[in-house]
Amino acid sequence: MSQERWSAVDDWTAAMLGGDDAALAAAAEASARAELPAIAVTPNQGKLLHLIARIQGARTILEMGTLGGYSTIWLARALPPDGRLVTLELEPRYAEVARANLERAGVAELVQLRAGPALESLRALIAEKAGPFDLIFIDADKQGTPEYFSAALELSRAGTVIVTDNVVRAGAIVDADSGDERVEGMRRFHELLAGEPRASATTIQTVGGKGYDGFTLALVEGEP
Ligand SMILES: C[S@@+](CC[C@H](N)C(=O)[O-])C[C@H]1O[C@@H](n2cnc3c(N)ncnc32)[C@H](O)[C@@H]1O
Repeated sequence: MSQERWSAVDDWTAAMLGGDDAALAAAAEASARAELPAIAVTPNQGKLLHLIARIQGARTILEMGTLGGYSTIWLARALPPDGRLVTLELEPRYAEVARANLERAGVAELVQLRAGPALESLRALIAEKAGPFDLIFIDADKQGTPEYFSAALELSRAGTVIVTDNVVRAGAIVDADSGDERVEGMRRFHELLAGEPRASATTIQTVGGKGYDGFTLALVEGEP
């Protein structure tokens, strides 16, 4: 099996099942034109997030790692008209591109984009008692994931779903001596989860247009 085949299957199934549309494609194109890194979720992954939000009946969503707002649009579209999505992005230039993309996609009114380091924004959200959120998507810098998950728990309720992306890292997650801080972040994240009685979680490996990786789905069980 090759990357070429994984990408072909992603493209074909997305075309069959509606993985993308004009507004989402425009957001991806604008992000590419602005030379943002090509690290957004794929159309199929975006639709998975959208479906999880709808299955969850999410009215409030928190996202860490906005980039150009591609996954933000997918998630915001799952919200009811009075829903609310807070998304956190470090880079002011990316945030600017995302704001334009969210506006063009017609979801800007549902979304509050906070620029700055996610950990600072998360501390502010906790201080403001902005939670609980129904769904939380962790997709910022990978080395910070354990700290983001701990903060996410503080912004959760029993029943909150927390999705964390890029946890498998082409299988490197099982390499104890990888020396890559992103891999180490995902190993620490799993160690944290293993000892966390307030969440039940599983990690699913994936292949597709973005290679071999995976995500962790966690359900918050008790009152955090
Ligand atoms: C994988 S990308 C997000 C992709 C986006 N969720 C999507 O699928 O369209 C990760 C993003 O996290 C941002 N980021 C990195 N470090 C961060 C930090 N400390 N706080 C907030 N955002 C950060 C990066 O600038 C980048 O835009």
